[in-house]
Amino acid sequence: MTHLLEMRGIVKRFGRVEALKGVDFHVGRAEVVGLVGDNGAGKSTLVKIIAGVYQPDAGEIYWEGQPRVFRDPHEARQAGVEIVYQHLALIDLMSIERNIFLGREPVRRVGPLSILDKRRMSEEAWRVLQDIGLRRIRSPAERVAKLSGGERQSVAIGRAMHFKAKLLILDEPTAALSVRETRRVLDHVLDVKKQGVSVIIISHNIYHVYEVSDRIVVLDHGRKIADVPKEKVTPEEVIKVIRRGAPLES
Ligand SMILES: Nc1ncnc2c1ncn2[C@@H]1O[C@H](COP(=O)(O)OP(=O)(O)OP(=O)(O)O)[C@@H](O)[C@H]1O
Ligand SMILES: [Mg+2]
Repeated sequence: MTHLLEMRGIVKRFGRVEALKGVDFHVGRAEVVGLVGDNGAGKSTLVKIIAGVYQPDAGEIYWEGQPRVFRDPHEARQAGVEIVYQHLALIDLMSIERNIFLGREPVRRVGPLSILDKRRMSEEAWRVLQDIGLRRIRSPAERVAKLSGGERQSVAIGRAMHFKAKLLILDEPTAALSVRETRRVLDHVLDVKKQGVSVIIISHNIYHVYEVSDRIVVLDHGRKIADVPKEKVTPEEVIKVIRRGAPLES
């Protein structure tokens, strides 16, 4: 069967900086891929290309076996790619329900008009909160500013699930979270995998990545230096590969 996503020879330049120097990368169906590497290795750049934020300068991308480049984040979302950023996960000043629907609000027709279906929005948002296990929250009309970092991540993941993502991308989802909140996010990753969703998780905490991933990919200065099934490697070996910037010794 074809991979959900396959990228070949991806190059991305920012002026004179070559952030990606010909990277091959793929994600299988219901597979969790841990993407790791030092600061500036090119991890965020790679996932932003997948999410339609950037376009590659060279290389090929296949989505469900078809050649495809997402021209903007909207196109990527339509295709089933959801990305959750650490800092931009949600908009503080808006309610939880508005954040869940952002740009995809349910509307109902009243004669010639289409108006925001607030009731449906609240009901669906409430279900998202229940599904993701945020039972402390009393109403989806609450402002996001009142949520903890972990709760925000959970809402963002719940949103991705609600809109039936095929690929969920988490860029540093556990940085700055408490132990208990981190646990919750990692459990979400395992849950969505069970539902058949593929996940790319980026983190500097190799132990978090290792725990939930099926395969680990290491980037170093814009190149892929390791791509191994988890069973073939220990977290300590992954850390060593990142530190040395050189492939695994066999
Ligand atoms: N918009 C941009 N404009 C210019 N240079 C950029 C831009 N985005 C990334 N870069 C550069 O590309 C390289 C890769 O950056 P990227 O953010 O992908 O790394 P990263 O692996 O996500 O690092 P970190 O772990 O610190 O988040 C870096 O040298 C970075 O400075
Ligand atoms: Mg990054």
